[in-house]
Amino acid sequence: MFIDSVPKVDEVYVDARRVLELVADVYSVRRAEHRDIPSVVRINRLCLPENYSVGFFEDLLRAYGNAFFVAVHREEGVVGYVMCRVEVKKGFFSEEKLRSLHIVSIAVMPKHRRKKLGYALMAYAMNSGKWEYDCHESYLEVRVSNEPAINLYKRLGYSVITVIPQYYLDGEDAYLMARPI
Ligand SMILES: CC(C)(COP(=O)(O)OP(=O)(O)OC[C@H]1O[C@@H](n2cnc3c(N)ncnc32)[C@H](O)[C@@H]1OP(=O)(O)O)[C@@H](O)C(=O)NCCC(=O)NCCS
Repeated sequence: MFIDSVPKVDEVYVDARRVLELVADVYSVRRAEHRDIPSVVRINRLCLPENYSVGFFEDLLRAYGNAFFVAVHREEGVVGYVMCRVEVKKGFFSEEKLRSLHIVSIAVMPKHRRKKLGYALMAYAMNSGKWEYDCHESYLEVRVSNEPAINLYKRLGYSVITVIPQYYLDGEDAYLMARPI
């Protein structure tokens, strides 16, 4: 595992804030609020085959709202989100049980992709996981065919830990990716 080459969460966060400053007249990233749930649900259904009940989004917002962020376009409103769960489990990078930030779902509307919003959402979530939830690792599952997302996670310092065969309902495998935070 190339832990030394993993960018520090603080550095990623500062970088994301710098990137957002450059587009501050159009985009911002902020904590999700209850009124954002309909937009988040709509984006989830448009962008991903893994959909959840409205109650699931509400539960995550209630329980881990400090790690639930939305990207907002000045005119169009919410155009992206990331939502997480904090779990206590054996670490991928240590033998000890620790608090881990599980990235449950992230999506950015197609028209607003490649503007670093996904990067910023992840940076905000990791920063919150580390400093507000005292997490020492972060992990996620991603379809082995999802090149954009895999590239994003690698850039953020996540590496492939293992392949989970037939993780998705349609039979596709998942990469389990993780990084210390
Ligand atoms: C994955 C996703 C959230 C990325 O959001 P985004 O805002 O477009 O990503 P960013 O602009 O922040 O990209 C940051 C980096 O990720 C990588 N990346 C993002 N999209 C990429 C693409 N289409 N192809 C290759 N690399 C890509 C690049 O390294 C990129 O940096 P660069 O633009 O300087 O090259 C977005 O593509 C999406 O919503 N996809 C559908 C939902 C999904 O797959 N979610 C993940 C489920 S695990």
